Amino acid sequence: MTGKFYITTPIYYVNDIPHIGHAYTTVAADILARYNRLKGKKVFFLTGTDEHGQKVEKAAQEKGMSPKEHADLMVENFKSLWKKLTIHNDAFIRTTDSEHVKTVQSLLTKLWEKNEIEKRAYSGWYCIPDERFWTEKEVIEGECPECKRPVEHIAEENYFFLMSKYQERLIYYIEENSSYILPEARKNEVLGFLKNNPLGDLCISRPKQRLSWGIVLPFDDNFVTYVWFDALVNYYSAIDYLADPHIHPSNLDSRFSSLGSEDWWPPEHHLIGKDILTTHAVYWSTMLMALDMPLPKNIFAHGWWTVDGKKMSKSFGNVVDPNEIVNKYGTDAFRYFLFREVPFGLDGDFSEQALIKRINNDLANDLGNLLSRTLTMIEKYCEGKIPPCPPLLKGGKGGLHDIHGEVDLQREIHLKRLVEDMNETFDLAMERLSFGHALDKIWEIINDANKLIEDEAPWQLWKTKNIGKLSGVLHTLAETLRIIAIYVYPFMPDTGQKICQQLGIDEEIGTAIHIAWGGLKPEQKIRKGAHLFPRIEKI
Ligand code: MSP
Repeated sequence: MTGKFYITTPIYYVNDIPHIGHAYTTVAADILARYNRLKGKKVFFLTGTDEHGQKVEKAAQEKGMSPKEHADLMVENFKSLWKKLTIHNDAFIRTTDSEHVKTVQSLLTKLWEKNEIEKRAYSGWYCIPDERFWTEKEVIEGECPECKRPVEHIAEENYFFLMSKYQERLIYYIEENSSYILPEARKNEVLGFLKNNPLGDLCISRPKQRLSWGIVLPFDDNFVTYVWFDALVNYYSAIDYLADPHIHPSNLDSRFSSLGSEDWWPPEHHLIGKDILTTHAVYWSTMLMALDMPLPKNIFAHGWWTVDGKKMSKSFGNVVDPNEIVNKYGTDAFRYFLFREVPFGLDGDFSEQALIKRINNDLANDLGNLLSRTLTMIEKYCEGKIPPCPPLLKGGKGGLHDIHGEVDLQREIHLKRLVEDMNETFDLAMERLSFGHALDKIWEIINDANKLIEDEAPWQLWKTKNIGKLSGVLHTLAETLRIIAIYVYPFMPDTGQKICQQLGIDEEIGTAIHIAWGGLKPEQKIRKGAHLFPRIEKI
């Protein structure tokens, strides 16, 4: 598989500190980015921050700072969390970057010149926290239908993007492109909405006297751009100045050099949470149609996390800070939990109890013990060197003999086949963003490998001097572990790397590493280290 892979996360508001919801999408994008790099693709993984608008302005005011000073401070919380979560993003966009501002203005000019934007007197109900207008019909007893907070009545002149005329085209596009919006249930929601309600035009300006913290409209400097119009453009503006190694020195990386910025468009996936599906599926799609630009290949809306069965909110005091969880349980355990516990796309519940259960069962017992038992036996029975691959496992004939006669390696050959078959099912799961299924596949192999140890009882083989068979078992286990390391790597980068190191492999997994059976060097010296995941007895 070669080619390019452009993936994005939402850009996060800098009015608050990051929580588990922000971490969720960013880790998901990191998993896909790492996986696609392993597959040999050129990857551009973009994340960043959304720094304009009323929410951000208000948060800065409350702290007695200018919005930019405040954003400069807050952006560090995101950057440091991404480091801690081993996020390997290729670029980080801030909507206050001057290059982004220029792109927003040039796209606005283009739409203005194409008569896709119109000035109108307007009155309507406005929800400040959500920064969006609602019609009389949509407002429920004076409250925003989405966040249930009071709305304000506002009358003013504004600029409108003529979104309504794209309604039919958008319905057609979504129906024709079955994986444009996923999961399926979310696609049906969007289609249901579009088919049963007239699509309005989109107010894309805010008068400066009401809000000054935004990008000035290029054709009327009494107005700034609506924050969502500005924010959505990030996906396009970034490739112009952040994917080009000559403009952005931190990306001086050979991976990018052969692709011009335009070549990155359109993205493979916009990963988002379900609450911001309308802005992406409707606003962004129609903006791109009006600009005559190709649409992204997929918008994937994941579910929301509750905490201990409750909605996560500041007022409940139950907002999960990923920093705290990682300090307590480690990055890889947290990353693993997020994608094993809940199918990507559905809502899920976070609790420390559930996390500890996963660590103890899946990571300490299943995976950690498989590695430590295998390496202990290689130390004990093979002088710490990986035994050579028996010819039978290489597909050769004639078998292997020792003092007990021909060695039977049926079980080992069976495990090897399962490992080889996993390639296809794992790829399919990853392409569908079914992270849970991909992990299930890996764990099936881990469980089979643990069962092989029980069934073959290498300590008995040692006692009875059944050395040929013993070598076959231990080689199979080591090779299986090497391949498991590569598969778990996108989810748990440090763990994958540690397994390789303990097997005595020096290569970085992130670069080219042999995924097919047979990558271990004969007589490779192992370096058994600490247990991957010590059991957690109590909180
Ligand atoms: N700035 C906009 C996005 C602009 S993208 C062009 C924004 N930012 S946000 O910081 O408020 O939210 C970012 C993401 O966090 C959204 O995708 C949202 O779904 C996600 N989550 C917020 N709370 C969440 C949970 N409790 N669980 C999972 N994800 C959640 O919206």
